[in-house]
Amino acid sequence: MTHSVFSCYAAAAFGLEGLVSDELRRLGLADVHAENGGVRFSADPAGLLNANLKCRFCDRIYISLAEETCTTFEALYQLVFRIPWERYACGTEFFHLSCKCVRSKLMSPRDCQSVSKKALLERLRKQTARTRFPESGAELPILISIHQDWTRILLNTSGVSLSRRGYRTWNGEAPLRETLAAALVQLSPWRPGLPLHDPCCGTGTILVEAALMMTGRASGINRSFAMESFSFLDPGLSSRVRSCCASPASEKALSSISGSDLDPEALKLARRHTRQAGVDQLVQLDCIPLQELRLNGAAGVFICNPPYGERMDSASECRKLYRDLALLRQRHPGWSLCAITSDPGFERAFGKKADKKRRLYNGRLECTYYIYD
Ligand SMILES: C[S@@+](CC[C@H](N)C(=O)[O-])C[C@H]1O[C@@H](n2cnc3c(N)ncnc32)[C@H](O)[C@@H]1O
Repeated sequence: MTHSVFSCYAAAAFGLEGLVSDELRRLGLADVHAENGGVRFSADPAGLLNANLKCRFCDRIYISLAEETCTTFEALYQLVFRIPWERYACGTEFFHLSCKCVRSKLMSPRDCQSVSKKALLERLRKQTARTRFPESGAELPILISIHQDWTRILLNTSGVSLSRRGYRTWNGEAPLRETLAAALVQLSPWRPGLPLHDPCCGTGTILVEAALMMTGRASGINRSFAMESFSFLDPGLSSRVRSCCASPASEKALSSISGSDLDPEALKLARRHTRQAGVDQLVQLDCIPLQELRLNGAAGVFICNPPYGERMDSASECRKLYRDLALLRQRHPGWSLCAITSDPGFERAFGKKADKKRRLYNGRLECTYYIYD
């Protein structure tokens, strides 16, 4: 199986599919096609591991094993049974099946899981003459995704979400997913060389992601992936691909990256996260309310994820803060400002229509990313 080319699928938050496609193309992967909620592509095992290590914007990367319309348990059983599981399993794997059913005739994830597991084990019994499966070995995480009856059997090569880079050990009150933070940086006018400041930096996710991007460091270098334990892949793959990622950070166009917040506890976490990500030398943090913030530098970019008024603060306090963001920009005339919020009153409170807007999701919350360029 070492040189197989797999049909792959990178799951992404709505709104980020384009960024994920561009990223996969930049990594040299073939047959890249975006669709709602994800991107299809082809990759050999090395390309797949490289994508897991370097993709900053997608949630998980899967090998697509089979897909077709299933409206009955019998159809699902047959679909799973036709997959050549004997190629993917040596016999000791722990088959970890999970299932999502959305607007489909098959509505019970638990029943779909148990039908699929039956089919998988039956196939292995028939093809390998093995009768017992101790499931004591490495995990083979399998997702059965049923959306309007279209059923996909996916092998999860990432394991836990790719947003878990390994540097965040405590989440603070309203953290941003690392994949979304990276996307905010990528979608902003900031490019390495320009100063970047997050005036509501909280636990520092935007700053860490910007510093990782600036130095060209692989976002997943400090974590492992499910595929690194798959018995059907070459055991030397991991060290080969990882050694290519370990090249020294690029020194081109380093910028000043900084952040501030009025909450000293959040800043403690931000300091811990920058240290754990290995970028503490590149990021400056200060405890200061954005109303008092004054930065040097004729041009730069503010990127922030201010409170939305959904959980921590009342809507009117948030809108006052949005007005204060507008004043911050007025004090820094050469600077762009980008802010994400779910509050539809943002532009009115800010006092100006954004130059660009982008609909994005922070978890399940529909948000808009406002860019004042
Ligand atoms: C939604 S959280 C940001 C979370 C952050 N993106 C992260 O990944 O942890 C909003 C942050 O704005 C900060 N904040 C609220 N009012 C502020 C103000 N007037 N000046 C500076 N920071 C403020 C809060 O302390 C909080 O950390």
